[in-house]
Amino acid sequence: MPKMTFVERNGTAREVDAPLGLSVLEIAHKHGVDIEGACEGSLACSTCHVVIDPAWFPKLVKPTEDEEDMLDLAFGLEQTSRLGCQIVMTNALDGLVVKLPAATRS
Ligand code: FES
Repeated sequence: MPKMTFVERNGTAREVDAPLGLSVLEIAHKHGVDIEGACEGSLACSTCHVVIDPAWFPKLVKPTEDEEDMLDLAFGLEQTSRLGCQIVMTNALDGLVVKLPAATRS
């Protein structure tokens, strides 16, 4: 099974199993990683904001316009920010590293 790593706000890295077809948000919830995901993936919030490791960012499918619009509302936006609910695990993303942003807004 693919794996991915969450880097928590205090810098702790946690490698977890990342089942194919699940979103980064769903994987976080499965493992008790603190990403809110208030709208449960319907692109109506930005609380699933994650910062993608720069080495991985180019490997992701490009965000839709709707995702970009929601991302604009996220706190602590960085160059490699994405919405966790929109990133679906594939074999190509085995080893993905994402960081939790410093703060979120519901
Ligand atoms: S959970 Fe709301 S946009 Fe991702």
